[in-house]
Amino acid sequence: MDDEGWSALRDEMLSLFTPGAPIDEYALFAGRQPQIQKISDTVVSKGRHAVLFGERGVGKTSLASIFYLGFPETRPVVYVYVQCGSADTYQEIWQRALRRIVFTIDGKEFIAADLIRGAVTPDELEVVLANFASAHLPVIVFDEFDRIRDQPTKVMMSETIKHLSNSPTSCTIILVGVADNVTDIIAEHQSISRALVQIRMPRMHPDELKQIVTSRLRGTPLSVTDDALWRISYLASGLPFYAHALGQAAAITAIQRRKIQITEEIVNASIDNCFDDLDHTLIDAYVKAITETRKGNIFKHVLAACALAEQDELGRFSAASVEAPLSEIIGRPMKAPSFSFHLNELCNPERGTILAKTGSRSHYRFRFVQPMIQPFITMKSLSTGVMDDAVLARFAIERQRELSI
Ligand SMILES: Nc1ncnc2c1ncn2[C@@H]1O[C@H](COP(=O)(O)OP(=O)(O)OP(=O)(O)O)[C@@H](O)[C@H]1O
Ligand SMILES: [Mg+2]
Repeated sequence: MDDEGWSALRDEMLSLFTPGAPIDEYALFAGRQPQIQKISDTVVSKGRHAVLFGERGVGKTSLASIFYLGFPETRPVVYVYVQCGSADTYQEIWQRALRRIVFTIDGKEFIAADLIRGAVTPDELEVVLANFASAHLPVIVFDEFDRIRDQPTKVMMSETIKHLSNSPTSCTIILVGVADNVTDIIAEHQSISRALVQIRMPRMHPDELKQIVTSRLRGTPLSVTDDALWRISYLASGLPFYAHALGQAAAITAIQRRKIQITEEIVNASIDNCFDDLDHTLIDAYVKAITETRKGNIFKHVLAACALAEQDELGRFSAASVEAPLSEIIGRPMKAPSFSFHLNELCNPERGTILAKTGSRSHYRFRFVQPMIQPFITMKSLSTGVMDDAVLARFAIERQRELSI
């Protein structure tokens, strides 16, 4: 390949991997079959609406943006996407949705927002949304609904779902947000539990993460070894963002070296280049956390060990579960009392509030306030030599194996 060819390949890698943007093309979306099925079933069944929730960066917006692209042409989806902000109210988000809906009535086009008389209410919406043609499947997505601080908006949305599910409209509302459970997203969800389908987005399976990389290299001169693929998938810890960021950084490094095969060594060498699209608050928090106030402090070692500690299904870990990885990292036995000071400090703003502490005295548990920081800590700890590959292999790979079963 000549220089022009390599340069074109580099551009291709920059556009195929999208660490900075949700997926909007069906062919580039990996896995997630159960969630696609559940959300599609909700849209076609009458009187049902959905709430799609999960950790930050797990792929919620992407799923909400592509699930309907595989629908048959006989069921045309009318798709309306609204992004919510922290200061928004019920009126504002519905006006935003209605401005994006155009009805054709008796050959004339109308914007739905112009048909609303006075303020938007559940009843007014029922009347206006009845204008959708019966063959259509209208879907209105309210993304980042968790950010809305106004409580009455959440109550009104709950009322609206109840109202619309008892009405003849075929319109489906999908609320999307970062949350551990539905209660964090919508108020009084018990009263609409039959009408509201709950779809939790889990982290991605290692095979799905591998697919993100292999599907993008298919049809290009680049290939990736199994070891390299495995490494990308376990460093990504189930978060598609990292599969994109690391896959792209590794592809670019390979191209710079004029190699057509991405090897494990290339992946390792690209780690430091994959944080460009990462939320900077995470990087700032890490820098604060590891600041040396005294010579030889062990904050970065404790953090690396926390990232490898065994967690429960809510991402919580005990001080005792940090002992084994920390002992390996430091190279001598470390018992909880010798680092509980550090764990507590990491919960403070001066140390970036990286951890949160829950539970009672005899049963404290810690968790990462922003789960996205965990793979970052692992990668940073590797690239700065805080821990070596053997430690990672021992703890992370074991966990991945459990995940893959
Ligand atoms: N199924 C998938 N296949 C391939 N890439 C994906 C998939 N899901 C998500 N991604 C990628 O992962 C990253 C995060 O996706 P997305 O923005 O959809 O997540 P999110 O859960 O909406 O994030 P946030 O909580 O920040 O709103 C993006 O880079 C996106 O391209
Ligand atoms: Mg999103």
